[in-house]
Amino acid sequence: MLNTMQAIVLAAGKATRFKTDKTKLIEKICGQEIILYTTKMLAKLNIATTVVVGFQKESIIPLIQEHHGDTINFVEQQTQQGTGHALATSENFWHKKLILVLNSDAPLITTEIIEQLYAHHLKTDAMVSFVTAHHNEPFSSYGRVVTDEDGIRIIEANEFKGDAQEHCCINAGIYLINRLFLQEHITHIKQNNLSKEFYITDLIGIASARGKKVSTINVALDLVRGVNTLQELWAVEQIKRSEIIKHWMNLGVRFMAAQNIHLDLNVTIGTGTTIGSGTHLIGHTTIGKDCDIQPFSLIEDSTIEDHVTVQSFCIIKNTHLAKSSTIGPFAHVQEATTIGRHAVVGNFVEIKRTTLGAHSKVKHLSYLGDAIVGENANIGAGTITCNYDGIQKQTTVIADNAHIGSNNCLIAPVVIGARATTGAGSVITNDVPEDALAIARTPQTNKLAYTRKLCENKKPTTNSTPFI
Ligand code: UD1
Ligand code: CA
Repeated sequence: MLNTMQAIVLAAGKATRFKTDKTKLIEKICGQEIILYTTKMLAKLNIATTVVVGFQKESIIPLIQEHHGDTINFVEQQTQQGTGHALATSENFWHKKLILVLNSDAPLITTEIIEQLYAHHLKTDAMVSFVTAHHNEPFSSYGRVVTDEDGIRIIEANEFKGDAQEHCCINAGIYLINRLFLQEHITHIKQNNLSKEFYITDLIGIASARGKKVSTINVALDLVRGVNTLQELWAVEQIKRSEIIKHWMNLGVRFMAAQNIHLDLNVTIGTGTTIGSGTHLIGHTTIGKDCDIQPFSLIEDSTIEDHVTVQSFCIIKNTHLAKSSTIGPFAHVQEATTIGRHAVVGNFVEIKRTTLGAHSKVKHLSYLGDAIVGENANIGAGTITCNYDGIQKQTTVIADNAHIGSNNCLIAPVVIGARATTGAGSVITNDVPEDALAIARTPQTNKLAYTRKLCENKKPTTNSTPFI
């Protein structure tokens, strides 16, 4: 049914109200760029789509291509002369019976709205249909839908002089238009006196004035909110985030002070897991069942298996935490790191490009970079793998059951054999054989009666402070 319809997405605007240098359409909401919410929604419905680009098209086109291949067409609006002008630039692409036109800055839109608009358009035998919502704030930036003896039309916010309570119906920026009507009337849109732009919204008044049937469907404002300012971005992201959090709550995930938790679209969380306040779960992150993610950690593009504890203030990126491991507090684990089952990473530990075997422990103030640590090894406090020789990164291997003393420097490349021990304070430059003890530090020398001799050599003078 929907295949009598094609979509034109307006995405050429300059986003001046955003007050940032880059187009708002590539700004992310819960981890996904604003423009992709619209294009993916249309792809779900299998609707052929053309995107009108202009401002910063060099960032928008590759992004859409990355997600949709070559299934979406692009047309360029070279000068930004308004939404009506943007639609007109796509004229050569119009070929289906119905043209669905959408703003690209309303990311909360759903497939149901399009299905409902389409069904209503057919049912009412309309020439033009569009989506409205209730919004009675006097200073809103939406166009007001005004219906009176002259018919129906849309008056843009800066020209609307009426009572916002009375005219509480706003235009959502989603239109379904019969192609033949559009082809005939697109050139009848006049340049607006104030802004010098051509408004797509004028098509409503044009259709109504010519006695054509104009239909509307009314939906919840929260589904069609536009993002024009950073405040609106914040409001829309709040709505999306709450939706995602509620979804996981319904599947048995406990959120502590949920209003302070950030979750991206592609995060998944297992039943029985608790997510602490202030946690940010970013990108493609998967968290298993019965995990305890304590407050204020950032976890990005990582996989966390069941029964894992992440204590507060950790940064975990591109990492795999196996079942029942424990991390933190204040740990920084990143770049293709794997932490084995029941392994423990403690406070002030940084780990990069490393595999830490099952049941191994690195509990305090250490750095492991480019290391392969076997099972059941213990890394003493303050141990550093010296993995960078100034030109390239080198590997440190610590075999099963090895015991690294506190405050060791392991100068890579180096191999510590299975069950080997290194003495505290060692600087290990050579491989350590299995079962060996390596001590690599200056032997201690005791100078007897040192303090007394020091005092004798420093007899106080009359006008100086006594030494002791
Ligand atoms: C528009 C509507 C308004 C409606 C609101 C809903 C017009 C004149 N007004 O206002 O009635 O309530 O959306 O959110 O349409 N664009 C271009 N080329 C341009 C100008 C804009 O492609 O020259 C694109 C933008 O990238 C954006 C969309 O059109 O995706 C809407 O433009 P925007 O400036 O955000 O319109 P609003 O002021 O929000
Ligand atoms: Ca807008």
